[in-house]
Amino acid sequence: MRSERKMITAALPYANGPVHIGHLAGVYIPADVYARFQRRSGKDVAFICGSDEHGIPITIRAKKEGVTPQNIVDKYDEVIKKSFADLGISFDEYSRTTSKKHHEVSQDFFKTLYNKGKFTEEVSEQYFDEQAGEFLADRYIVGTCPKCGNDGAYGDQCEKCGSTLSPSELLNPKSMLSGNVPVLKETKNWYLPLNDYEDFLNEWIIEGHKDDWKPNVYGQVKSWLNDGLKPRAMTRDLNWGVPVPLPDADGKVLYVWFDAPIGYISFTQEWAEKNGKNWKDYWQNENSDLIHFIGKDNIVFHCIIFPAMMKAHGDYIMPTNVPAFEFLNLENDKISTSRNWAVWAHEYVEEFPGQQDVLRYTLLASAPETKDNNFTWKDFQIKNNSELVGIFGNFINRVAVLIHKYYDGIVPQGDENAPELLEIKKAANEIENFLEHFEFRNALTSMMNLARFGNQFLQIEEPWKTIKDSPEKAANSLFIAAQVAAGLAQISEPFMPFSSEKLLKMFNISQLNWKEIESEKILIKTGHQINPAELLFSKIEDETIEFQIQKLENTKQSNKKTNLKASPMKDEIQFDDFTKIDLRTATILTAEKVEKADKLLKFTVDTGVDVRTVVSGIAESFTPEECIGKQVMILLNLAPRKIRGIESQGMLLLATKPDGKLTFMTPESEVENGIEVS
Ligand code: 2FM
Ligand code: ZN
Repeated sequence: MRSERKMITAALPYANGPVHIGHLAGVYIPADVYARFQRRSGKDVAFICGSDEHGIPITIRAKKEGVTPQNIVDKYDEVIKKSFADLGISFDEYSRTTSKKHHEVSQDFFKTLYNKGKFTEEVSEQYFDEQAGEFLADRYIVGTCPKCGNDGAYGDQCEKCGSTLSPSELLNPKSMLSGNVPVLKETKNWYLPLNDYEDFLNEWIIEGHKDDWKPNVYGQVKSWLNDGLKPRAMTRDLNWGVPVPLPDADGKVLYVWFDAPIGYISFTQEWAEKNGKNWKDYWQNENSDLIHFIGKDNIVFHCIIFPAMMKAHGDYIMPTNVPAFEFLNLENDKISTSRNWAVWAHEYVEEFPGQQDVLRYTLLASAPETKDNNFTWKDFQIKNNSELVGIFGNFINRVAVLIHKYYDGIVPQGDENAPELLEIKKAANEIENFLEHFEFRNALTSMMNLARFGNQFLQIEEPWKTIKDSPEKAANSLFIAAQVAAGLAQISEPFMPFSSEKLLKMFNISQLNWKEIESEKILIKTGHQINPAELLFSKIEDETIEFQIQKLENTKQSNKKTNLKASPMKDEIQFDDFTKIDLRTATILTAEKVEKADKLLKFTVDTGVDVRTVVSGIAESFTPEECIGKQVMILLNLAPRKIRGIESQGMLLLATKPDGKLTFMTPESEVENGIEVS
């Protein structure tokens, strides 16, 4: 049986960057449609979210930008919150895990589990950076991948070959904090023995939710449970997060995946306090449905770890459903924040003012419900121009214009029992069924089918023709068309709230709840005055789309360039190290090939200090003639080396171009030889 209370959560976005269309399509827009629909169905809804502001992704971003983690979360919390508001995501509460309340609630949760003896204490060896005085999270250790030899592999993953790693597997591990070799040091942490919850999870999900949970979610949980669960550390040695509320836990914080889902609870409490509600009605009462909207990478945390935490606590209900979405690709390529391969929500809002519903519609139409899906700008344009403008907007416009033209904007008389009116009930009913089963694309199609029906109806009835000879028939046609338009104004709200609001104003009607849409005989009365037609959607031109495609193309090009240069930075050196290097300007006086060595050229070089011989492996890029007379830079104090029996005194500086050919590092304008380069 469905409950009258709906506790709806949307995954807390990490406050380490803005949100993009992948987040929107795979979590926030479907969650918002669901929450709006449940409100319209008269349910007592709490739709809760907030920024996930702890954890390594935040500290890494802060390090990269050379600022504090607090600076990072303050900045992105604002950006994210604004994007959601701009796109009409109707959270009842959007808070932050750095809030005082959240710290208190999550510490309290931890203490309850601790006092109930639900944790085990385990001492393990973790890498420690002695210079920085910190234990190192896996992401803070770099080294050589044992699988593919990549020198820039992280302690948890090699991004080159995709292998999952543990820090102890890395060859030559180094700390990213100081560049030093980390040492292993013992540390104590508190673990939740997930293995103790296997029976409970098997019974609750594997036996209990085989039929009503999405196969992708069910399948993933089953495979985790088949593999067997292990105790998992719920605390970490880190200085950014919620401090562990125990006396012997200095320098330790709650594991980010322990505190983040508790955010759903603490934010509900913040909301309840402000709105005179009892948060326990939503979280600790069997009459409440708890529904988590998440991306597929979060399944284990919401279906295994958080439920185990709530079970261990003892007072909480279990989620009724965890609709997890697959991923959305962009122009057939994986969306990536680090490669800037994304359509950013805040940029969209700026570049497409007033067109929030176009994004909501197109993302819902390609929501990655059962498998990964793809967003392309061309498709976005087609969906806007042929569906929103061509079908939905066109129908509404025709109805409003015709009623104004023939009846001064007053809804004419018609048959209140006309069979066509059932189409409205059918659409509302289908949407209800689809949304209750988290089938957003189907629900959207039902809405659009009603608009299609309206258009076809007008096309067949042709009231602009019948008005002359059969005015009653024309009136009836436009009466029915007005009902369909009013129906669209009502049922479009969960999907396209901005347009729905405009439509309600245009038809001068108020919002009904879903049961009323399904049960009311008519939705707009004969004699009712409607307002003039207002443009709902407008055509998106090719130039606009080309601009967006070009923007992505530029990203691709700049990624290519960065990749070429992007060998990892070498170990840090001190200024003293730099001053040991003697770089000078010099001129090549002679150049010749070295016998039996295809790659070598032998030079005599005027260094300003002396004239000396240098051998260099650059014959594949230059002929000797091309080199003579060139001004170059030379590393003067490199210890002499014998190459093919010739003593080479110093090294000429060159860089590799994208085509693999070399180019001399030459002063921008000619200078004297022997000038120090610094
Ligand atoms: O994957 C993520 O982006 C996480 N920040 C989601 C957290 S959801 C929850 F548990 F809070
Ligand atoms: Zn690798």
